[in-house]
Amino acid sequence: MKRTYSQHWKDYELIDAGNNKKLERWGKIITIRPDRNAYFTPILSEKEWKQKAQCEFVEATNNTGTWVSLKKDFPISETEIPNWQIAYKECVFNLKLTKFKHLGIFPEQQTNWEFIKNRIQKDGKFLNLFAYTGGASLVANTKGADVYHCDSVKQIISWAKLNMESSHQNGIHWVLDDALKFASKEVKRGKKYDGIIMDPPAFGIGAKKERWKIETKFPELVQLASKLISDKGFLIINTYSPKLKEEVIKNTVQKYFPKKNIEINKLSLKTTTGKILEYGELTRVY
Ligand SMILES: C[S@@+](CC[C@H](N)C(=O)[O-])C[C@H]1O[C@@H](n2cnc3c(N)ncnc32)[C@H](O)[C@@H]1O
Repeated sequence: MKRTYSQHWKDYELIDAGNNKKLERWGKIITIRPDRNAYFTPILSEKEWKQKAQCEFVEATNNTGTWVSLKKDFPISETEIPNWQIAYKECVFNLKLTKFKHLGIFPEQQTNWEFIKNRIQKDGKFLNLFAYTGGASLVANTKGADVYHCDSVKQIISWAKLNMESSHQNGIHWVLDDALKFASKEVKRGKKYDGIIMDPPAFGIGAKKERWKIETKFPELVQLASKLISDKGFLIINTYSPKLKEEVIKNTVQKYFPKKNIEINKLSLKTTTGKILEYGELTRVY
């Protein structure tokens, strides 16, 4: 199995993983979060994890839960939700503890940020679909690209804008829209992009509030991207659903990009203690 590894950086470290959890450092704050991919045994003991971490996310249902403080000097309540900043090179991200267990960035994307940096040209057009708080958008913006950031959730776009301001950047085009709807409109307008990244959730909500699964929407997303990519452009697709198999990804991408190089690897991160954690399939077309 081929892997693409993301690396730790000064403000992010995956310290250990196991027992369906991960221990991560975000700047000075250490968290414990559930992760089904950490099905193995961790290296450090539970006692060591709890000694290190400021807080732990305790799952109530599959999608939501609550953050519990593990340190007196790190209070968490409805009125006191901790927030802080971390940096990735010149980009600054505002983090907070959300009820969906996320903190505001997906650090496993680090390898994609470097891929984008190496390939996008100044004034090249870059499209970030399902763009969340803008990791890839900010990175492409530092290279002087013309960046379009599309997400269907208003509060998420506001969060991405805050990250842009904290990073002392400007000029990103904010698109509050359904990703498929926006991509279809761009195809009709005859737009082309030199780089596209898409990070669709396993379960999405569409333009008409209908629920969809990535395994059924994937071909349409790839087809739309194939119409939007310029001749020398690149496409990055992250998929996290075990129901979307590598073989299906490969066949679909080959169908719409018969002349391009295609790489499909397991997106992975190594813990400081030496374990390997997987984050789904990473597809690159260039
Ligand atoms: C997995 S996150 C993306 C993470 C991001 N690529 C990063 O690394 O920071 C998925 C994002 O897709 C957005 N989203 C969900 N359904 C959508 C849709 N139909 N159209 C556009 N965005 C959507 C969510 O609001 C969320 O921000």
